[in-house]
Amino acid sequence: MESTKTPSESRTIITDIVLPSETNPIGNMFGGELLARMDRAASIAARRHSRRIVVTASVNHVAFNKMIPLGSVVTVEAKISRAFKSSMEVYLDVWLEDRESGIKTKANEAIYTFVAVDEMGSPMPVPKILPESELEKERFEAALRRKQLSLVLAGKMAPKEATELKAIFE
Ligand SMILES: CC(C)(COP(=O)(O)OP(=O)(O)OC[C@H]1O[C@@H](n2cnc3c(N)ncnc32)[C@H](O)[C@@H]1OP(=O)(O)O)[C@@H](O)C(=O)NCCC(=O)NCCS
Repeated sequence: MESTKTPSESRTIITDIVLPSETNPIGNMFGGELLARMDRAASIAARRHSRRIVVTASVNHVAFNKMIPLGSVVTVEAKISRAFKSSMEVYLDVWLEDRESGIKTKANEAIYTFVAVDEMGSPMPVPKILPESELEKERFEAALRRKQLSLVLAGKMAPKEATELKAIFE
């Protein structure tokens, strides 16, 4: 597959409210509920980039920085930050919307990896990506390092092959 796309072409936004059944005993959103919302948004972004069936290969990083109270309006924004051969790194930003002012503040972020597959579940090639904004370029640059770290942690890459990680420590 030779085509190239921009991160904006995969941009996916899901906005929803936090209901009582989605909260813990102190009235804040369950982490698992947010993970599910992020997985859905990331999966749509990966599908938009690849135009193929996609599966979650790994959740590389999640930071639950802020509690999200019952009744909050939560926006999950997903974009492909880098595409490799069949895998795509999806960067997620989570925003909370203030009821009175409507101003959105960043609550959490996460990074997922999706793989494009055929009907038999075999990995398929995806378009390359061309980052545009400064933030997209930053995320693109760091993505190979994160991919190698994820593969090393999953036991799918020998640490000595992780050239990007070695470069940090040498
Ligand atoms: C994800 C999956 C397709 C990878 O298959 P595989 O046989 O390991 O295939 P490969 O080794 O060729 O890897 C395919 C791509 O995934 C990447 N990958 C695999 N595991 C990864 C991990 N833990 N972290 C980051 N990338 C990973 C590989 O680096 C490769 O990327 P590239 O083609 O862009 O270089 C396969 O493991 C799978 O189907 N897993 C189940 C997915 C699923 O059901 N998810 C929902 C969970 S409920």
